[in-house]
Amino acid sequence: MAIIGNEVEKAKQALEQGDLVGIPTETVYGLAANAFNPEAVARIFDAKNRPSFDPLIVHVANKKAARELVLNMPADAIKLAKKFWPGPLTLLLPKKDIIPDLVTSGMANVAIRIPNHPLTLTLLSELRFPLVAPSANPFGYISPTTASHVNAQLGDVVKYILDGGPCTVGVESTIVGFPSEGPTIYRTGGISQEDIETEIGKVRVNKYSSSNPQAPGMLKSHYAPRTQVVLGEIETLLEKFKWKNVGILHFNASHKKSADKQCVSLALSTRGDLSEAAQNLFSHLRALDAMDLDIIIAETVPDTGIGKAINDRLRRAAAE
Ligand code: TXA
Ligand code: MG
Repeated sequence: MAIIGNEVEKAKQALEQGDLVGIPTETVYGLAANAFNPEAVARIFDAKNRPSFDPLIVHVANKKAARELVLNMPADAIKLAKKFWPGPLTLLLPKKDIIPDLVTSGMANVAIRIPNHPLTLTLLSELRFPLVAPSANPFGYISPTTASHVNAQLGDVVKYILDGGPCTVGVESTIVGFPSEGPTIYRTGGISQEDIETEIGKVRVNKYSSSNPQAPGMLKSHYAPRTQVVLGEIETLLEKFKWKNVGILHFNASHKKSADKQCVSLALSTRGDLSEAAQNLFSHLRALDAMDLDIIIAETVPDTGIGKAINDRLRRAAAE
């Protein structure tokens, strides 16, 4: 198991030695390494069992550091960075040669973001290199939103976990790219489509595709717990699976349960608040996944704002 603590200095030393460190961000915990050290980067792919065709996000302390890694920034990217950085927004920008090809899986664009977490911002500003940090979970499993989630699954491969408390956003960053067809959301996330469109006008939303992933994290089976997840109307699913050991993931649990049998039931937000629901999503899925259930039945949430990212993660958790 790793050492868990809140000492930026310890995280810094481990990273300088080429080791892997768990870092807090506002979205989910990351598994961090020196982005300029190909060996350390390779260790991340190994540790996560991640295919090498799935590129990594580079995390920097400020906009100046971001600029140093890219050839140029389109006007819309500048607007978005100004409004949402530091924050749950990742921009795809043409990379300079200093970024190892392994980081971008050979692609011409690098994914960059400035995370909004005080400990990690301090860490980044004290390092002489940026950090690659995928979510700190084995490939295909639910992302971690606490230091102990990281320790439970990757404790053996990280040197240190910087504990910054539970993540306040709870779903990953929104990924935006700027192909010739116009600004495009490649992954819904912590910044809503509506908020992005307020800044730069209408954007395209790339639907995930498992056969030809644009951003390979768009693979359908991402974010899946081990237990089978079925999405739909709770009452109907309870009836359908009445002979099974079922766990329920409600949005706000405001409706009555018609089934008379007792089953575990968690609500994402009893007051029906989408931000709170996002914060709870991955930890509730993990909790249910640890209960030895036959099936987890879940309902989607209102499809607005961060609700779109929640529904996207629920659909992927339920994908075969
Ligand atoms: O909120 C987040 O973004 C978290 C925290 C730790 O920052 N990180 C995260 O990383 O979610 P990861 O590796 O789990 O997901 C990164 C996604 C993947 O879907 C990957 O395919 C995509 O970003 N991506 C990374 N670099 C890319 C690139 N150059 N072009 C297209 N997609 C890219
Ligand atoms: Mg991930």
